[in-house]
Amino acid sequence: MYLLIPAAGSGRRMGSHRNKLLLQVRSRPIIAWTLLAAQASDQISWIGIISQPHDWQDFKEIIADLQLTKPVELIKGGSTRQESVYNGLLSLPANAEQVLIHDGARCLATPDLLNRCAEAICHCLGLIAAVPVKDTIKVVDGNGIIQSTPERSQLWAAQTPQGFDVKLLKECHSEGIAQGWEVTDDAALFEKCGYQVQIVQGEETNLKVTTPQDLAIAEFILKTRFE
Ligand code: CTP
Ligand code: MG
Repeated sequence: MYLLIPAAGSGRRMGSHRNKLLLQVRSRPIIAWTLLAAQASDQISWIGIISQPHDWQDFKEIIADLQLTKPVELIKGGSTRQESVYNGLLSLPANAEQVLIHDGARCLATPDLLNRCAEAICHCLGLIAAVPVKDTIKVVDGNGIIQSTPERSQLWAAQTPQGFDVKLLKECHSEGIAQGWEVTDDAALFEKCGYQVQIVQGEETNLKVTTPQDLAIAEFILKTRFE
């Protein structure tokens, strides 16, 4: 299975002066933990890291240090995640029929989750890992007034990996560019084009390291996992 790792962000919400994926958690850069999970997943056979060229030297050193045995390619990132993923799709080997897309910032996803998504995408056209939300979610207008309260039992929090048929996802991205759609994940493009996206049970610990607090939580989870 081909795996694309979007890793070309700037980490604005982390308040860091460099790509947050290069920050250390439990004595390794965040991206190293994501790569170790990909290495440990027996379903993943190829890894494309979508990243900004100014980070490539750091990424090359991390890859060399981890002694990964799977082929790893560096692909140029774009100015949005959507653009980065599109670049990744265009850089996949020609024979890639399905792809998993997994954010570099979700460094706590387990090899088991990657395996389950890789297996499931061979039986459907689109999927995402997700977990049921625990909070009651409110829809709020610009004045801070609640407009509605969606039924919680129908709400799931989207994670990555997200898996797709490559040809269809490329078409959805092209349509997104033509229509000017701005989305925060690939499933949203797939949905907007009218295709079904299947849920795969995600992991409560599969958080996206976004803020300094997340970094502290990730540190704690890795500590309990590897002690
Ligand atoms: N990403 C990307 N290309 C971009 C923006 C984001 O590949 N132009 C990647 C990030 O590196 C991350 C994932 O998409 O692995 C999810 O994005 P997010 O958590 O928002 O990371 P950043 O964009 O770096 O953070 P922020 O939004 O706080 O700046
Ligand atoms: Mg972002």
